[in-house]
Amino acid sequence: MKIAVLPGDGIGKEVTAQAVRVLKALVGKEAEFTEGMIGGAALKAAGVPLPPETLALAKNSDAILFGAVGGPGDESGPRHLRPGLGLLTLRRELKLYANYRPAFLFPELIGASSLKPELVEGLDLVILRELNGDIYYGEPRGISVGADGRRHGVNTMRYSEPEIERIAHAGFKAARKRRRKLCSVDKANVLETMQLWRETVAAVGKQYPDVELRHLFVDAASMELLRAPKQFDVIVSPNMFGDILSDAAAMLTGSIGMLPSASVGDGNKGLYEPVHGSAPDIEGRNIANPLAAILSAAMLLRYSFNREDEAAKIERAVRAVLAEGYRTADILQPGTNKVGTVEMGDAVVAALRRA
Ligand code: IPM
Ligand code: MG
Repeated sequence: MKIAVLPGDGIGKEVTAQAVRVLKALVGKEAEFTEGMIGGAALKAAGVPLPPETLALAKNSDAILFGAVGGPGDESGPRHLRPGLGLLTLRRELKLYANYRPAFLFPELIGASSLKPELVEGLDLVILRELNGDIYYGEPRGISVGADGRRHGVNTMRYSEPEIERIAHAGFKAARKRRRKLCSVDKANVLETMQLWRETVAAVGKQYPDVELRHLFVDAASMELLRAPKQFDVIVSPNMFGDILSDAAAMLTGSIGMLPSASVGDGNKGLYEPVHGSAPDIEGRNIANPLAAILSAAMLLRYSFNREDEAAKIERAVRAVLAEGYRTADILQPGTNKVGTVEMGDAVVAALRRA
């Protein structure tokens, strides 16, 4: 098992270290971990957000455990010098086009959600975000000076039928493994690209008569996510809308610090990362929640290595530490036991032995 470890910036370093401990405790004898630089850290050391060695390491690995990238103010410079570009390039170079972002509410955290308990109790949905297309990568793009002497910004929303088809298939297949409900999100009432998205998803849907397909405009979808989130099973979404909706969905579960994600393509290679970012404001204080990173390690074992037993073990261990009352600051509630990043990692490693 060749695992590339790319901790990145900010709390990415702290939470990834805990996820690696958990993996080592379970599969340490079989796995080979190699660390690489990415994001702001790579910019500082090598002048680029994704050094060629890191890309080569990722290409030669079976799976990538990723932390987070970005620092305060880092994202305002020229595009090729932004930490986030390291991640965007990696996703595209490795053709990891399907990004699974499950939003699952641990019963122990029901009080940590900003919604009423009855609205989120039992919440279990997946946002499947397309990750290789859309306005994130579309050309033309850039800022240029127009005939009026003023600057103009351009980005292009683009999707081809094959790109939409492959993510639609992934969506229907994911729904088949769950409650057989797929909601496709778009903005077909305004944008032609999104009209193509809707038509193409509907056409693919003919091959999956056993899955209930519904279409929502993204504005309505965001409202429904807050109004009645339990109506959703799998939500398939274009890249940018999925970015936005997944942050909102994460918050339903109490904290964005709880949510893992998996980015995969056609093979078994995958990149696994917490949905949360680098949170430079809390960097280095040992207060970040490592559970999203630890749960990402579970997804890594499941999707890239087919190790369902160990993956489930990690998930049970996380449940156990929550049931025992361990909480980082983001999920703290009255009557629970506040711990730091490392102590939460300790608790999960200890719980693994019993899980
Ligand atoms: C995410 C992040 C990234 C994205 C950034 C860091 C480039 O917000 O993974 O959700 O926009 O995709
Ligand atoms: Mg995001």
